[in-house]
Amino acid sequence: MQWINQKAKDLSQGAIRAMFDRANAMGADDIISMGIGEPDMATPRLVCEAAGQALDMGLTHYTPNAGTMRFRQAVAEQSYLRGLHYDPASEIIATNGGMGALSLLFLVLLDPGDEVLIQDPQWLNYAAQITYCGGVPVRVPTDAAHRFQMQRADIEARITPRTKAILLNSPNNPTGSVMTRAELEQIASLAQAHDLFVISDEVYNTLVYDGAQCPTIASLPGMKERTAVINSFSKAYAMTGWRIGFLAGPAEIVSRMTLCQENFNSCANAPGQYAASVALAHPELCAELRDVFAARRTALLEGLSAIGQLRFTRPDGAFYVFADIRATGLDSVQFCVRLLEEEHVVCIPGSAFGSCGEGFIRIAYTCGEDKLRAATARMKRFCARLAQDVSPVI
Ligand SMILES: Cc1ncc(COP(=O)(O)O)c(C=O)c1O
Repeated sequence: MQWINQKAKDLSQGAIRAMFDRANAMGADDIISMGIGEPDMATPRLVCEAAGQALDMGLTHYTPNAGTMRFRQAVAEQSYLRGLHYDPASEIIATNGGMGALSLLFLVLLDPGDEVLIQDPQWLNYAAQITYCGGVPVRVPTDAAHRFQMQRADIEARITPRTKAILLNSPNNPTGSVMTRAELEQIASLAQAHDLFVISDEVYNTLVYDGAQCPTIASLPGMKERTAVINSFSKAYAMTGWRIGFLAGPAEIVSRMTLCQENFNSCANAPGQYAASVALAHPELCAELRDVFAARRTALLEGLSAIGQLRFTRPDGAFYVFADIRATGLDSVQFCVRLLEEEHVVCIPGSAFGSCGEGFIRIAYTCGEDKLRAATARMKRFCARLAQDVSPVI
């Protein structure tokens, strides 16, 4: 259509949604989805009640563009940011989920042609947002041997005079890998040496297992002033549909984002901000959710271990396993499409997350343990059939 601009015409549906469409089109009622990247459980009762109270109190109007002071104070005081002394009045903004924070940030950060370093494989939406905002996503290859962490030489080889920022996502979607303090220190020293801004997407930081630590890079010396911390309530409190998130970062950036928000969205939803500020006073809710995912992770890893042909490293965080399917002889799209068609199990092809994801599939443990066991049993049957190269009986 002649009225649509080229940028919009260049947008395409991501491979994750495409897998869902394919699964829905099958119309089968026994499909087990390990494709979706959101907690399947209900938002905690207490948070829902807080939203109800907000409605009763009449908190149904626009809030300040940066969010209510109550929300921003609660963010500044939550345990993992408290020591960093963010000023709620100038260094924190409430956004429409983590994605809202990312898009406002790219809008204020990027001039046409500015480059942002992103690891490969990585959650799809960063590159799309950066491109839409005129920037250039530059992929840094990673591999399983290095836990899918970007290596210094690979980053440095891609730094140009146009490189403006480096984007980190730990715990990571799709790999579940969590950056160690030493890995963060290496990125911090690189950022300082090359005067790069750091975007740290920490939306999975409450979901870490076996005592793993997930420090924010903003807490390293000299980093707070060159880092935007992005987080949201979607994964931590099972609140994906509430669209509440935030960014904590340098005041000048936050104030420009606030102007953008004024012009694009006005504000994040008012009762949601209230409920989220109540949620922040109850970190035990995140711990409860984490424990559910920890048990699922155990069930999934046991099931995957029994398959034999799939290899994987034990992920420390998020709710994903990035499994190596190369021994099956299929590429990741072939594997996922056939697994769906023959066994009614949804996983996401690793190639959806970048070329370095080829040979892998993302398995989300966002369904209950019984389903995970049933799904891995089906995967085992599927892989056994592949090994024998026998056509399925349909
Ligand atoms: C790495 C990562 N960042 C951000 C988001 C977006 O989260 P939100 O629902 O807060 O916008 C997602 C959602 O899947 C994600 O995986």
